[in-house]
Amino acid sequence: MTTPRKILVTSALPYANGSIHLGHMVEHIQTDIWVRFQKMRGHECYYVCADDTHGTPVMLAAQKQGITPENMIAKVREEHLADFNGFYIGYDNYYSTHSTENKEFSREIYLKLKANGKIAVRTIEQLFDPEKNLFLPDRFVKGECPKCHAQDQYGDNCEVCGTTYSPTELINPYSAISGATPVLKESEHFFFKLGECADYLKKWTSGSSILANGQTQAHLQPEALNKMKEWLDDDHLNDWDISRDAPYFGFEIPDAPGKYFYVWLDAPIGYMAAFKNLCDRIGMDFNNWFSVGSNTEMYHFIGKDILYFHALFWPATLRFADYRAPTAVFAHGFLTVDGQKMSKSRGTFITARTYLDGKLNPEWMRYYLAAKLNSKIEDLDLNFNDFISRVNSDLIGKYVNIAARAAGFIGKRFSGSLCDVGNSALLTQLSAAADIIAEHYEQREYARALRDIMALADAVNEYVDANKPWELAKQDGMDTCLHHVCSELINAFHILSVYLAPVLPKIAVQTAEFLNIPALTWANSQHRLPENHVINTYQHLMHRVEQKHVDDLIEANKQNIQAAPTPAQAAPNAEYTPLADTASFDDFMKIDLRVAKVLSCEKVEGSTKLLKFLVDLGFEQRTIFSGIAAGYPEPEKLIGRMVVVVANFAPRKMAKFGMSEGMITSASGNGQLFLLDVDSGALPGMRIG
Ligand code: MSP
Ligand code: ZN
Repeated sequence: MTTPRKILVTSALPYANGSIHLGHMVEHIQTDIWVRFQKMRGHECYYVCADDTHGTPVMLAAQKQGITPENMIAKVREEHLADFNGFYIGYDNYYSTHSTENKEFSREIYLKLKANGKIAVRTIEQLFDPEKNLFLPDRFVKGECPKCHAQDQYGDNCEVCGTTYSPTELINPYSAISGATPVLKESEHFFFKLGECADYLKKWTSGSSILANGQTQAHLQPEALNKMKEWLDDDHLNDWDISRDAPYFGFEIPDAPGKYFYVWLDAPIGYMAAFKNLCDRIGMDFNNWFSVGSNTEMYHFIGKDILYFHALFWPATLRFADYRAPTAVFAHGFLTVDGQKMSKSRGTFITARTYLDGKLNPEWMRYYLAAKLNSKIEDLDLNFNDFISRVNSDLIGKYVNIAARAAGFIGKRFSGSLCDVGNSALLTQLSAAADIIAEHYEQREYARALRDIMALADAVNEYVDANKPWELAKQDGMDTCLHHVCSELINAFHILSVYLAPVLPKIAVQTAEFLNIPALTWANSQHRLPENHVINTYQHLMHRVEQKHVDDLIEANKQNIQAAPTPAQAAPNAEYTPLADTASFDDFMKIDLRVAKVLSCEKVEGSTKLLKFLVDLGFEQRTIFSGIAAGYPEPEKLIGRMVVVVANFAPRKMAKFGMSEGMITSASGNGQLFLLDVDSGALPGMRIG
């Protein structure tokens, strides 16, 4: 192995007023693969992220829901975390920009910038909503485009003709929040004097870092550098307005009551805060990582839309607040679906949640996106036909099948024990690729890494076809040969699993269990499983993707949009399911609802969702399974209470748990379930209607 490095890695902080979608997943999967790779190589690597919680949109979204911003961001953070966990994104810390650490750092950095003469105060005129009493961010002003006269365009640019302008240039402007006509109002703002940082930034953007291992790393990708040059060379670098007036959800600026840090000031500082919080938890020295001259590395993975913030504002902020600058910023392109921008109405604005709830395997998406990712700032397309064939042919056809084919014979014929594979030419070929594949991962050329790995898998499959273990198994006296071929295949599967582990972390864990070895490291690629090593029974590692998975996913995303309440209908804190079709009284009476008394209620082993009830219906007792475990963590407390049961459903088999003889009704919404109640005096068996 090479010299151990100390590496801090971040993904951009997702806004706390929206759901995680596949566009975000591109970034977090790209980052996670890189982090897992570095860890497998034995480097000391930490991956932090957080929710970006401040700003007007978050404040307004919370208002709309009738909850405090603090409550909203706490709820959203839980959702974001569940989504990212679902895709096996392995943060060392997922924090929030609304934290004490971030407040401290933001104030400190601001005061240092001020002490270094980099803060200016100026009075500006801005559009103000006189009904809502707040200054309007550009995106919250709409009106007629001054150029092409298209109606209802945003305050910063026209989506019809593409012109950019300032919101004061709109014809007949109106507030997108209240509809009121905005007025111009003066206010004092704080500016970061970026113009004065131009010399530093010219140097930094075109510069590079020398890593602890002696290698050179450019701060920016060539395309990113070119973009930044356009700005820097023409002296386009304006001072940056870093304050906003109350009401604003954020941190108040020291000694400036009613003035808040603009969200984009404290957002990148959130990287530091998340890392500081981690340092404090694990007893690591934060200063060692963030002081000027630190020999640690710091990388930011971001999308191309936020390059200016990371390649200009952020390095300047760090530099003039006396902190180290990033080692490099890695920008990626945008995800399109079937060649087009993700679209809510077409159902291609796919959220992480619908993907996971649709029971699509997250490793399919990890693999597919990795197979498209490289180190350039290119957009990448999710094409569903390609997705299905890529995953099925590579992962199932070429990779998983190797284990499936060899494991049965090893288990049945050789009691799970491997033989000595000696100097296998096949395995030598596989091991020899380790450095090249590692270099591809290191350079974020995942598509190349996977192409090389699949070429090796092809070689293994050719070996299978040449030796036909299923025929050897039928022939007398070929046991030794069969044992050898299958042992080689298990070893080959081991090495391929090492190479794929950054992309397929769950399969990597399952493989280590199957092979009966500790967690896979990169060095494993050079090892053979020893003679007489006993492996475990093979459990199927992955199913094929079916067209139906994809169809259902798109349908679910369409419905997602339809079910989402528009702001006007949304009552505080509730999401309503659309009303069902009109029903007649007869329709209703087809369902026989009865009062029932809970006699016993318990958790079901092997299920996190189900509770098992025994209820008394007066005329008989019934066993009913109900998927409400999440809402009732202490099921024994339900014993004795009345519930409402659908009594005329045909009995239904609940997987391996047994028959359910009815359904217990409950109200659902906001992801929660509530059992119905009956007034006292009602007896078990009474009909409802
Ligand atoms: N909150 C800011 C980032 C602050 S970082 C200090 C933000 N949030 S975001 O939720 O809008 O986007 C988060 C990341 O997701 C960004 O890097 C953005 O480029 C990326 N993506 C959002 N949509 C995307 C695609 N369709 N495709 C790929 N990445 C996309 O910006
Ligand atoms: Zn226009």
